[in-house]
Amino acid sequence: MMRKILVLNGPNLNWLGRRDPAFYGSSTLDELERQAAVQAAELGLVAEFFQSNHEGALIDRIQQAQAAAIVINPGALSHYSVALHDALLDFAGPVVEVHLSNIHAREDFRRRLVTAAAADGLVSGFGFDSYRLGLLAAAGLLAAREAHEGKT
Ligand code: DQA
Repeated sequence: MMRKILVLNGPNLNWLGRRDPAFYGSSTLDELERQAAVQAAELGLVAEFFQSNHEGALIDRIQQAQAAAIVINPGALSHYSVALHDALLDFAGPVVEVHLSNIHAREDFRRRLVTAAAADGLVSGFGFDSYRLGLLAAAGLLAAREAHEGKT
């Protein structure tokens, strides 16, 4: 059975292609998701996608997730959402946070990360490749868990 991976995108990421290309590139979320679907399949995973501009909708989706792992770009919620942090903490599988831009090379307020504390790791600064690397990391964490479970 193919493992499912949930790829979540938070506020304003539906506007990729219209946002500042210096930070976010010129491709759309649709293109990003199509690319990520192929990359997930190459790793033996089936990707599901969800984007919302609303914190509560993202939390509902995490609570209902049937997926084995989550890759999430929480957008600006990364910097202040304790509620999203807590929802990710309660998710049983691996969580990888991704950012298109290098959040440490921007305004000071972006350097504070709240949700990342609930993730297994963080990828930031590689554009669409941040998602590819995030999927790779999540697949690695899933394989490690399965190997561990096989031993117990
Ligand atoms: C972002 C970085 C956030 O600071 C910003 O609010 C975003 C996008 C990124 O992918 O680089 O919306 O998460």
